Amino acid sequence: MEILKIEHLSKIYGKGESAVKALDDVSFSVKKGEFVAIIGPSGSGKSTLLHLLGGVDRPTSGKVFVDQTDMYSLNETQLAIFRRRQIGLIYQFYNLIPVLTVEENMTLPLLLDKQKVNKKEFNDLVKTLNLQHRIHHLPNQLSGGQQQRVSIGRALISHPAIMLADEPTGNLDSKNSSEIIDLLIMFNKAYNQTLIVITHDERIALQADRIISIEDGRIAKDEVIHS
Ligand SMILES: Nc1ncnc2c1ncn2[C@@H]1O[C@H](COP(=O)(O)OP(=O)(O)OP(=O)(O)O)[C@@H](O)[C@H]1O
Ligand SMILES: [Mg+2]
Repeated sequence: MEILKIEHLSKIYGKGESAVKALDDVSFSVKKGEFVAIIGPSGSGKSTLLHLLGGVDRPTSGKVFVDQTDMYSLNETQLAIFRRRQIGLIYQFYNLIPVLTVEENMTLPLLLDKQKVNKKEFNDLVKTLNLQHRIHHLPNQLSGGQQQRVSIGRALISHPAIMLADEPTGNLDSKNSSEIIDLLIMFNKAYNQTLIVITHDERIALQADRIISIEDGRIAKDEVIHS
């Protein structure tokens, strides 16, 4: 089953002489449960693509279907709600809210959505992320690896259709980096959670089911490595 379908997606930043074509007619689909790595040189359009898959920005042209919903046919309010429920985003620098505790950061997407927190589910997730002794701490009281585990928890708490990560290990040492990737792969395999990861790390890319290479805003290669 296709969970994600991208059709002729383009993004031009700016206007006139300073216009930059960051994404140029990109099309592909992703199956439910697939783990896709996106690689490519700096400036090739990887983050632009991920933001468009995540509903963070709007494309200049083209369509993105997430679980059959034409995301950019939604208005701003509908898109914000859809994104909160269906997209789990993980960034290199965690993007946690500094004045909120681990528990508050993780459950924020549910609170914004006026949904109740399922205590048992929350506790299980916290345990899987090995954060059970940190739930009342603030982000600045945590290590980088711990902060990234909180952001994984926040991304997963609403059972999103897709999980998107932009260089999730870019700020971590190799031990923390493998812990984070192992966790993401665990959620991918055990819960059939669709996962799309931008990475510069070849060892991470080689663990994916499929590697998409982006060059100059276009797909240069799309290879299945594990099926
Ligand atoms: N907000 C913006 N305004 C104007 N140009 C932008 C903007 N964001 C990105 N760009 C340009 O779009 C192109 C693609 O940028 P993008 O951030 O997607 O690259 P990337 O592949 O993620 O690179 P990196 O590996 O360095 O993170 C670049 O040329 C960049 O300068
Ligand atoms: Mg980038």
